[in-house]
Amino acid sequence: MLRFNLFSSLFLAIFLLLLMHFCYITPISCPALCHCHGDLQHVICDGMGLRRIPRVSEATRLLNLQRNDLGMVPSGAFRASVGLVSLHMQHCALSEVGAHAFRGLKNLVYLYLSHNRISSIKPGAFNDLSQLTYLHLDHNHISDLSKGVFSPMINLFNLQLSHNRLKELRAGTFSGAKDLRWLHMSSNQLSTLQPGSLDHVENLAVLHLDGNRLSVYPSAAMSKLRVVEELRLDGNPMRTIPDHAFLSFGRYMEKLHLNNMSLEKFSDAAFSGVTAVKSLHMDNNRLRSLPRSLNFSSITNISLSNNPWSCTCQLAALRRWMDSSRNRPDAVCASPSSQKGKQVQDSPAFSSCREKAKRAKKGTRP
Ligand SMILES: *[C@@H]1O[C@H](CO)[C@@H](O)[C@H](O)[C@H]1NC(C)=O
Ligand SMILES: *[C@@H]1O[C@H](CO)[C@@H](O)[C@H](O)[C@H]1NC(C)=O
Ligand SMILES: *[C@@H]1O[C@H](CO)[C@@H](O)[C@H](O)[C@H]1NC(C)=O
Repeated sequence: MLRFNLFSSLFLAIFLLLLMHFCYITPISCPALCHCHGDLQHVICDGMGLRRIPRVSEATRLLNLQRNDLGMVPSGAFRASVGLVSLHMQHCALSEVGAHAFRGLKNLVYLYLSHNRISSIKPGAFNDLSQLTYLHLDHNHISDLSKGVFSPMINLFNLQLSHNRLKELRAGTFSGAKDLRWLHMSSNQLSTLQPGSLDHVENLAVLHLDGNRLSVYPSAAMSKLRVVEELRLDGNPMRTIPDHAFLSFGRYMEKLHLNNMSLEKFSDAAFSGVTAVKSLHMDNNRLRSLPRSLNFSSITNISLSNNPWSCTCQLAALRRWMDSSRNRPDAVCASPSSQKGKQVQDSPAFSSCREKAKRAKKGTRP
Protein backbone atom coordinates (compact mmCIF):
# COMPACT_ATOMS: atom_id res chain seq x y z
CA MET A 1 0.00 0.00 0.00
CA LEU A 2 2.75 2.36 1.04
CA ARG A 3 4.80 1.44 -2.04
CA PHE A 4 1.84 2.09 -4.30
CA ASN A 5 1.32 5.53 -2.76
CA LEU A 6 4.97 6.35 -3.22
CA PHE A 7 4.88 5.13 -6.80
CA SER A 8 1.76 7.09 -7.66
CA SER A 9 2.99 10.32 -6.14
CA LEU A 10 6.30 9.92 -8.02
CA PHE A 11 4.32 9.38 -11.20
CA LEU A 12 2.19 12.45 -10.45
CA ALA A 13 5.28 14.58 -9.84
CA ILE A 14 6.82 13.52 -13.16
CA PHE A 15 3.55 14.16 -14.92
CA LEU A 16 3.33 17.69 -13.44
CA LEU A 17 6.91 18.43 -14.39
CA LEU A 18 6.24 17.37 -17.95
CA LEU A 19 3.09 19.50 -18.04
CA MET A 20 5.00 22.53 -16.81
CA HIS A 21 7.65 21.89 -19.39
CA PHE A 22 5.19 21.96 -22.24
CA CYS A 23 3.23 24.90 -20.95
CA TYR A 24 5.95 27.26 -19.85
CA ILE A 25 9.38 26.24 -20.99
CA THR A 26 8.96 25.35 -24.62
CA PRO A 27 7.48 28.22 -26.66
CA ILE A 28 3.73 28.21 -26.80
CA SER A 29 2.62 27.11 -30.24
CA CYS A 30 0.73 29.34 -32.67
CA PRO A 31 -2.73 30.04 -31.18
CA ALA A 32 -5.63 28.25 -32.82
CA LEU A 33 -7.10 30.18 -35.80
CA CYS A 34 -4.09 32.54 -36.00
CA HIS A 35 -1.21 32.72 -38.47
CA CYS A 36 2.30 32.93 -37.15
CA HIS A 37 5.48 33.99 -38.83
CA GLY A 38 9.16 34.10 -37.98
CA ASP A 39 9.22 31.66 -35.07
CA LEU A 40 6.11 33.16 -33.49
CA GLN A 41 7.48 36.69 -33.66
CA HIS A 42 4.37 37.80 -35.53
CA VAL A 43 0.99 36.41 -34.53
CA ILE A 44 -1.85 37.46 -36.85
CA CYS A 45 -5.42 36.74 -35.77
CA ASP A 46 -7.23 39.39 -37.85
CA GLY A 47 -10.99 38.76 -38.03
CA MET A 48 -10.87 35.16 -36.86
CA GLY A 49 -13.93 35.17 -34.59
CA LEU A 50 -11.86 34.98 -31.41
CA ARG A 51 -13.77 35.72 -28.20
CA ARG A 52 -10.77 35.73 -25.87
CA ILE A 53 -7.29 37.13 -26.03
CA PRO A 54 -4.99 34.25 -26.97
CA ARG A 55 -1.86 33.53 -25.00
CA VAL A 56 1.33 34.25 -26.86
CA SER A 57 4.88 33.67 -25.78
CA GLU A 58 7.63 36.03 -24.79
CA ALA A 59 9.08 35.60 -28.28
CA THR A 60 6.13 37.38 -29.90
CA ARG A 61 6.80 40.98 -30.95
CA LEU A 62 3.62 41.75 -32.90
CA LEU A 63 0.11 40.58 -32.04
CA ASN A 64 -2.69 41.51 -34.41
CA LEU A 65 -6.14 40.93 -32.91
CA GLN A 66 -8.10 43.34 -35.14
CA ARG A 67 -11.75 42.64 -35.88
CA ASN A 68 -12.46 40.09 -33.17
CA ASP A 69 -15.39 40.58 -30.83
CA LEU A 70 -13.36 40.69 -27.64
CA GLY A 71 -15.51 43.09 -25.59
CA MET A 72 -12.88 43.80 -22.94
CA VAL A 73 -9.27 43.53 -21.96
CA PRO A 74 -9.10 41.64 -18.68
CA SER A 75 -6.54 42.53 -16.07
CA GLY A 76 -3.24 40.80 -16.79
CA ALA A 77 -4.35 39.63 -20.23
CA PHE A 78 -0.83 40.02 -21.58
CA ARG A 79 1.10 38.73 -18.57
CA ALA A 80 2.93 36.10 -20.59
CA SER A 81 3.54 38.37 -23.60
CA VAL A 82 6.24 40.64 -22.22
CA GLY A 83 8.09 40.78 -25.56
CA LEU A 84 5.29 42.59 -27.39
CA VAL A 85 6.32 45.71 -29.29
CA SER A 86 3.15 46.21 -31.35
CA LEU A 87 -0.40 45.36 -30.32
CA HIS A 88 -3.34 45.81 -32.71
CA MET A 89 -6.85 45.75 -31.26
CA GLN A 90 -8.88 47.94 -33.65
CA HIS A 91 -12.53 47.00 -34.25
CA CYS A 92 -12.69 44.61 -31.28
CA ALA A 93 -15.91 45.96 -29.69
CA LEU A 94 -13.91 46.88 -26.61
CA SER A 95 -15.96 48.90 -24.17
CA GLU A 96 -13.55 49.35 -21.31
CA VAL A 97 -9.87 49.38 -20.62
CA GLY A 98 -9.51 48.09 -17.10
CA ALA A 99 -6.89 48.97 -14.52
CA HIS A 100 -3.74 46.90 -15.22
CA ALA A 101 -5.08 45.90 -18.63
CA PHE A 102 -1.62 46.11 -20.15
CA ARG A 103 0.42 45.08 -17.15
CA GLY A 104 3.85 43.79 -18.01
CA LEU A 105 4.08 45.26 -21.52
CA LYS A 106 7.24 47.15 -20.77
CA ASN A 107 8.53 46.90 -24.35
CA LEU A 108 5.34 47.97 -26.09
CA VAL A 109 5.87 50.83 -28.57
CA TYR A 110 2.65 50.73 -30.66
CA LEU A 111 -0.85 50.31 -29.20
CA TYR A 112 -3.83 50.51 -31.56
CA LEU A 113 -7.25 50.70 -29.88
CA SER A 114 -9.10 52.70 -32.57
CA HIS A 115 -12.67 51.97 -33.62
CA ASN A 116 -13.95 50.46 -30.42
CA ARG A 117 -16.57 51.54 -27.90
CA ILE A 118 -14.21 52.55 -25.15
CA SER A 119 -15.91 55.08 -22.90
CA SER A 120 -13.70 54.90 -19.89
CA ILE A 121 -10.09 54.28 -19.14
CA LYS A 122 -9.46 53.29 -15.56
CA PRO A 123 -6.65 55.07 -13.73
CA GLY A 124 -3.56 52.91 -13.99
CA ALA A 125 -4.73 51.26 -17.21
CA PHE A 126 -1.52 52.30 -18.92
CA ASN A 127 0.87 51.51 -16.09
CA ASP A 128 4.01 49.74 -17.28
CA LEU A 129 3.78 51.29 -20.78
CA SER A 130 6.91 53.37 -20.34
CA GLN A 131 8.16 52.64 -23.88
CA LEU A 132 4.87 53.38 -25.59
CA THR A 133 5.35 55.90 -28.40
CA TYR A 134 2.19 55.61 -30.54
CA LEU A 135 -1.23 55.39 -28.88
CA HIS A 136 -4.29 55.30 -31.12
CA LEU A 137 -7.58 55.77 -29.27
CA ASP A 138 -9.51 57.52 -32.04
CA HIS A 139 -13.11 56.58 -32.95
CA ASN A 140 -14.19 55.59 -29.46
CA HIS A 141 -16.68 56.96 -26.92
CA ILE A 142 -14.27 58.57 -24.48
CA SER A 143 -15.92 61.53 -22.75
CA ASP A 144 -13.46 62.15 -19.97
CA LEU A 145 -9.77 61.67 -19.29
CA SER A 146 -8.69 61.33 -15.71
CA LYS A 147 -5.78 63.39 -14.52
CA GLY A 148 -2.47 61.64 -15.09
CA VAL A 149 -3.91 58.77 -17.12
CA PHE A 150 -1.03 59.11 -19.61
CA SER A 151 1.67 59.76 -17.04
CA PRO A 152 3.36 56.35 -17.23
CA MET A 153 4.05 57.05 -20.92
CA ILE A 154 7.15 59.15 -20.65
CA ASN A 155 8.02 58.32 -24.27
CA LEU A 156 4.63 59.04 -25.83
CA PHE A 157 5.10 60.84 -29.16
CA ASN A 158 1.82 60.49 -31.03
CA LEU A 159 -1.59 60.44 -29.33
CA GLN A 160 -4.69 59.99 -31.45
CA LEU A 161 -7.93 60.95 -29.70
CA SER A 162 -10.01 62.21 -32.63
CA HIS A 163 -13.65 61.17 -32.97
CA ASN A 164 -14.41 60.74 -29.30
CA ARG A 165 -16.78 62.57 -26.96
CA LEU A 166 -14.41 64.75 -24.97
CA LYS A 167 -16.13 67.84 -23.58
CA GLU A 168 -13.32 69.55 -21.75
CA LEU A 169 -9.67 69.16 -21.00
CA ARG A 170 -8.74 69.67 -17.40
CA ALA A 171 -5.46 70.85 -15.96
CA GLY A 172 -3.02 67.96 -15.66
CA THR A 173 -4.66 65.71 -18.26
CA PHE A 174 -1.35 65.10 -20.01
CA SER A 175 0.97 65.25 -17.04
CA GLY A 176 4.06 63.11 -17.54
CA ALA A 177 3.74 62.86 -21.34
CA LYS A 178 6.51 65.40 -21.75
CA ASP A 179 7.69 64.13 -25.15
CA LEU A 180 4.30 64.29 -26.85
CA ARG A 181 4.68 65.87 -30.31
CA TRP A 182 1.44 64.97 -32.12
CA LEU A 183 -1.93 65.40 -30.44
CA HIS A 184 -5.02 64.84 -32.54
CA MET A 185 -8.35 65.69 -30.91
CA SER A 186 -10.45 66.49 -33.99
CA SER A 187 -14.20 65.83 -33.91
CA ASN A 188 -14.83 65.77 -30.21
CA GLN A 189 -17.20 68.05 -28.27
CA LEU A 190 -14.57 70.18 -26.60
CA SER A 191 -15.91 73.51 -25.42
CA THR A 192 -13.25 74.23 -22.80
CA LEU A 193 -9.52 73.74 -22.58
CA GLN A 194 -8.81 74.68 -19.00
CA PRO A 195 -5.74 76.77 -18.25
CA GLY A 196 -2.98 74.27 -17.50
CA SER A 197 -4.50 71.51 -19.60
CA LEU A 198 -1.60 71.63 -22.10
CA ASP A 199 1.15 72.71 -19.73
CA HIS A 200 2.80 69.31 -19.60
CA VAL A 201 3.05 68.90 -23.35
CA GLU A 202 4.93 72.06 -24.19
CA ASN A 203 6.81 70.34 -27.03
CA LEU A 204 3.71 69.69 -29.14
CA ALA A 205 4.42 70.18 -32.85
CA VAL A 206 1.05 69.18 -34.29
CA LEU A 207 -2.21 70.05 -32.56
CA HIS A 208 -5.55 69.24 -34.19
CA LEU A 209 -8.60 70.71 -32.49
CA ASP A 210 -10.84 71.00 -35.54
CA GLY A 211 -14.47 69.95 -35.33
CA ASN A 212 -14.98 70.88 -31.70
CA ARG A 213 -17.16 73.42 -29.90
CA LEU A 214 -14.67 76.02 -28.81
CA SER A 215 -16.43 79.39 -28.96
CA VAL A 216 -13.52 81.26 -27.40
CA TYR A 217 -9.89 80.86 -28.41
CA PRO A 218 -8.25 79.07 -25.44
CA SER A 219 -5.42 81.58 -24.97
CA ALA A 220 -4.45 80.53 -21.48
CA ALA A 221 -4.21 76.82 -22.29
CA MET A 222 -2.22 77.52 -25.47
CA SER A 223 0.22 79.96 -23.92
CA LYS A 224 2.63 77.28 -22.67
CA LEU A 225 3.08 75.69 -26.07
CA ARG A 226 6.43 76.66 -27.56
CA VAL A 227 6.99 74.83 -30.84
CA VAL A 228 3.63 74.19 -32.55
CA GLU A 229 4.20 73.83 -36.29
CA GLU A 230 0.66 72.94 -37.30
CA LEU A 231 -2.55 74.10 -35.65
CA ARG A 232 -6.02 73.18 -36.84
CA LEU A 233 -9.07 74.89 -35.44
CA ASP A 234 -11.50 74.50 -38.37
CA GLY A 235 -15.17 74.22 -37.59
CA ASN A 236 -15.05 75.69 -34.07
CA PRO A 237 -17.68 78.41 -33.66
CA MET A 238 -15.22 81.19 -32.73
CA ARG A 239 -16.08 84.72 -33.79
CA THR A 240 -12.72 86.24 -33.14
CA ILE A 241 -9.05 85.46 -32.66
CA PRO A 242 -7.63 87.54 -29.83
CA ASP A 243 -4.35 89.46 -29.58
CA HIS A 244 -1.19 87.35 -29.21
CA ALA A 245 -3.10 84.11 -29.84
CA PHE A 246 -0.08 82.34 -31.37
CA LEU A 247 2.69 84.32 -29.76
CA SER A 248 4.35 81.58 -27.71
CA PHE A 249 4.94 79.38 -30.78
CA GLY A 250 4.75 81.98 -33.56
CA ARG A 251 8.32 81.43 -34.71
CA TYR A 252 7.52 77.76 -35.46
CA MET A 253 3.97 77.80 -36.76
CA GLU A 254 3.99 76.93 -40.47
CA LYS A 255 0.42 75.77 -40.96
CA LEU A 256 -2.71 77.36 -39.57
CA HIS A 257 -6.17 76.08 -40.46
CA LEU A 258 -9.12 78.30 -39.60
CA ASN A 259 -11.72 77.20 -42.15
CA ASN A 260 -15.44 77.17 -41.49
CA MET A 261 -15.46 78.88 -38.11
CA SER A 262 -17.86 81.83 -38.45
CA LEU A 263 -14.85 84.04 -37.77
CA GLU A 264 -15.74 87.72 -38.04
CA LYS A 265 -12.57 89.41 -37.02
CA PHE A 266 -8.97 89.07 -35.99
CA SER A 267 -7.81 91.31 -33.19
CA ASP A 268 -5.17 93.75 -34.43
CA ALA A 269 -2.30 91.87 -32.75
CA ALA A 270 -3.70 88.37 -33.36
CA PHE A 271 -0.64 87.40 -35.40
CA SER A 272 1.99 89.07 -33.28
CA GLY A 273 5.12 86.94 -33.11
CA VAL A 274 4.03 84.83 -36.11
CA THR A 275 7.00 84.86 -38.48
CA ALA A 276 7.07 81.45 -40.19
CA VAL A 277 3.56 80.77 -41.43
CA LYS A 278 3.59 79.25 -44.92
CA SER A 279 0.11 77.85 -45.21
CA LEU A 280 -2.92 79.80 -43.97
CA HIS A 281 -6.48 78.69 -44.53
CA MET A 282 -9.52 80.81 -43.75
CA ASP A 283 -12.27 79.63 -46.12
CA ASN A 284 -15.94 79.85 -45.13
CA ASN A 285 -15.88 82.59 -42.54
CA ARG A 286 -17.33 86.08 -42.19
CA LEU A 287 -14.08 87.98 -42.47
CA ARG A 288 -14.03 91.44 -43.98
CA SER A 289 -10.44 92.38 -43.21
CA LEU A 290 -7.09 91.03 -42.09
CA PRO A 291 -5.12 92.44 -39.17
CA ARG A 292 -1.98 94.54 -39.46
CA SER A 293 -0.03 91.94 -37.49
CA LEU A 294 -0.29 89.44 -40.35
CA ASN A 295 3.01 89.53 -42.28
CA PHE A 296 2.65 87.87 -45.68
CA SER A 297 6.35 87.50 -46.39
CA SER A 298 6.58 83.81 -45.43
CA ILE A 299 3.22 82.72 -46.89
CA THR A 300 3.23 80.42 -49.91
CA ASN A 301 -0.28 78.96 -49.68
CA ILE A 302 -3.33 80.94 -48.60
CA SER A 303 -7.04 80.28 -49.00
CA LEU A 304 -9.69 82.90 -48.34
CA SER A 305 -12.83 81.95 -50.23
CA ASN A 306 -16.36 82.54 -48.99
CA ASN A 307 -15.70 85.62 -46.91
CA PRO A 308 -17.30 89.05 -47.39
CA TRP A 309 -14.03 90.89 -48.02
CA SER A 310 -14.04 94.63 -47.79
CA CYS A 311 -11.88 95.84 -50.64
CA THR A 312 -10.34 98.92 -49.12
CA CYS A 313 -6.73 99.73 -48.33
CA GLN A 314 -6.77 97.61 -45.19
CA LEU A 315 -6.47 94.61 -47.57
CA ALA A 316 -3.59 96.20 -49.49
CA ALA A 317 -0.99 93.85 -48.00
CA LEU A 318 -2.99 90.87 -49.22
CA ARG A 319 -3.28 92.37 -52.67
CA ARG A 320 0.45 93.09 -52.81
CA TRP A 321 1.13 89.48 -51.85
CA MET A 322 -1.26 88.31 -54.61
CA ASP A 323 0.46 90.52 -57.17
CA SER A 324 3.82 89.01 -56.33
CA SER A 325 2.64 85.39 -56.11
CA ARG A 326 1.96 82.78 -58.75
CA ASN A 327 -1.04 81.57 -56.74
CA ARG A 328 -4.46 82.93 -57.49
CA PRO A 329 -6.54 82.28 -54.38
CA ASP A 330 -10.25 82.90 -54.67
CA ALA A 331 -11.27 85.97 -52.65
CA VAL A 332 -14.27 88.07 -53.65
CA CYS A 333 -15.04 91.63 -52.57
CA ALA A 334 -18.42 92.09 -50.87
CA SER A 335 -17.92 95.80 -50.33
CA PRO A 336 -17.72 98.68 -51.13
CA SER A 337 -20.62 98.39 -53.53
CA SER A 338 -18.48 99.53 -56.49
CA GLN A 339 -16.24 96.46 -55.97
CA LYS A 340 -18.90 93.94 -55.05
CA GLY A 341 -18.40 90.62 -56.83
CA LYS A 342 -14.89 91.44 -58.08
CA GLN A 343 -11.92 89.26 -57.23
CA VAL A 344 -9.54 90.97 -54.81
CA GLN A 345 -6.83 90.26 -57.33
CA ASP A 346 -8.68 92.17 -60.11
CA SER A 347 -10.18 95.00 -58.10
CA PRO A 348 -8.89 98.51 -58.90
CA ALA A 349 -9.63 99.54 -55.30
CA PHE A 350 -6.00 99.17 -54.24
CA SER A 351 -4.29 101.32 -56.87
CA SER A 352 -3.74 104.29 -54.57
CA CYS A 353 -3.02 102.38 -51.35
CA ARG A 354 0.79 102.46 -51.31
CA GLU A 355 0.80 106.24 -51.11
CA LYS A 356 -1.50 106.14 -48.14
CA ALA A 357 0.70 103.67 -46.30
CA LYS A 358 3.68 106.00 -46.81
CA ARG A 359 1.75 108.99 -45.59
CA ALA A 360 0.58 107.01 -42.58
CA LYS A 361 4.23 106.34 -41.68
CA LYS A 362 4.92 110.04 -41.70
CA GLY A 363 2.20 110.38 -39.12
CA THR A 364 -0.30 112.37 -41.16
CA ARG A 365 -3.04 109.80 -40.63
CA PRO A 366 -5.74 111.13 -38.32
C1 LIG B 1 -18.66 73.58 -41.05
O1 LIG B 1 -18.88 73.52 -39.64
C2 LIG B 1 -20.17 73.10 -39.28
C3 LIG B 1 -20.30 73.24 -37.78
O2 LIG B 1 -19.14 72.88 -37.11
C4 LIG B 1 -20.37 71.69 -39.79
O3 LIG B 1 -21.66 71.23 -39.45
C5 LIG B 1 -20.17 71.65 -41.29
O4 LIG B 1 -20.26 70.32 -41.76
C6 LIG B 1 -18.84 72.22 -41.68
N1 LIG B 1 -18.74 72.33 -43.12
C7 LIG B 1 -17.64 72.06 -43.78
C8 LIG B 1 -17.71 72.25 -45.25
O5 LIG B 1 -16.62 71.70 -43.21
C1 LIG C 1 7.68 90.92 -42.44
O1 LIG C 1 8.69 89.97 -42.25
C2 LIG C 1 9.87 90.24 -42.97
C3 LIG C 1 10.81 89.07 -42.81
O2 LIG C 1 10.86 88.66 -41.49
C4 LIG C 1 10.47 91.56 -42.49
O3 LIG C 1 11.64 91.85 -43.22
C5 LIG C 1 9.44 92.68 -42.69
O4 LIG C 1 9.92 93.87 -42.16
C6 LIG C 1 8.12 92.32 -42.05
N1 LIG C 1 7.13 93.29 -42.43
C7 LIG C 1 6.37 93.96 -41.56
C8 LIG C 1 5.37 94.92 -42.13
O5 LIG C 1 6.45 93.77 -40.36
C1 LIG D 1 -2.20 74.40 -49.79
O1 LIG D 1 -2.70 73.84 -48.59
C2 LIG D 1 -3.78 72.94 -48.77
C3 LIG D 1 -4.30 72.53 -47.42
O2 LIG D 1 -3.29 72.04 -46.62
C4 LIG D 1 -3.32 71.77 -49.60
O3 LIG D 1 -4.40 70.90 -49.82
C5 LIG D 1 -2.78 72.27 -50.92
O4 LIG D 1 -2.26 71.19 -51.63
C6 LIG D 1 -1.70 73.33 -50.71
N1 LIG D 1 -1.33 73.89 -51.98
C7 LIG D 1 -0.07 74.07 -52.34
C8 LIG D 1 0.15 74.71 -53.68
O5 LIG D 1 0.88 73.74 -51.61
